[in-house]
Amino acid sequence: MADEIPFTLDGRAVTARPGETIWQVAMRHGTEIPHLCLSGEPDFHPDGNCRLCVVDVVGRRNLAASCITKPQPGMQVMTNSGKAANARRTVMELLLAEADVAPESECARWAKVMGVTATRYPRTQHSLPVDRSHPGIDVDLSACIHCLRCVQACREFVLHDVIGMSGRDGHSKIIFDFDAPMGQSTCASCGACAQTCPTGALTFRRPA
Ligand code: SF4
Ligand code: FES
Repeated sequence: MADEIPFTLDGRAVTARPGETIWQVAMRHGTEIPHLCLSGEPDFHPDGNCRLCVVDVVGRRNLAASCITKPQPGMQVMTNSGKAANARRTVMELLLAEADVAPESECARWAKVMGVTATRYPRTQHSLPVDRSHPGIDVDLSACIHCLRCVQACREFVLHDVIGMSGRDGHSKIIFDFDAPMGQSTCASCGACAQTCPTGALTFRRPA
């Protein structure tokens, strides 16, 4: 097809369909690249903020975030070069220093797949009290990696726009309305945020 873009993925000749990212082409060919700010669910768009999906592009100095990078004709992409795999492990270690992710979460699953069992980096986040003000969802921002999937789900899929991000630099955090406890916010209790959160920062409360 005229609009398809030929490139190589791990040495294999492939083509990208119009608009596809490297990550999408890799998935189509059975190579799952780690990802967190990209949910992987249909309709979620990549945010490109976590850097867990970086790959090596031959001839480029910097690694490319595969979830937001579109292939160019003739590009040679290595998803698992030593440079890319090491960078992804470092990203994961930094995330684990930033957040106390739940052991059964998507983030913890990726850490296991990547062989990351601990972090070399000092903790950058202190434990925070869990907000249990909502009748069905607990909010533990100690586990938040700021991937913004909950913001996207709330704002773009269910059109509630209750969740946002406030603060800058090391002080940014997820907030409900103008930093209200979740249970006192305008949350409509659809659960889209807890369903997509990859770390256990937003979880459905288990029955006692
Ligand atoms: S609460 Fe969960 S989904 Fe929302 S930004 Fe934090 S880690 Fe991502
Ligand atoms: S999944 Fe690509 S930057 Fe987060």
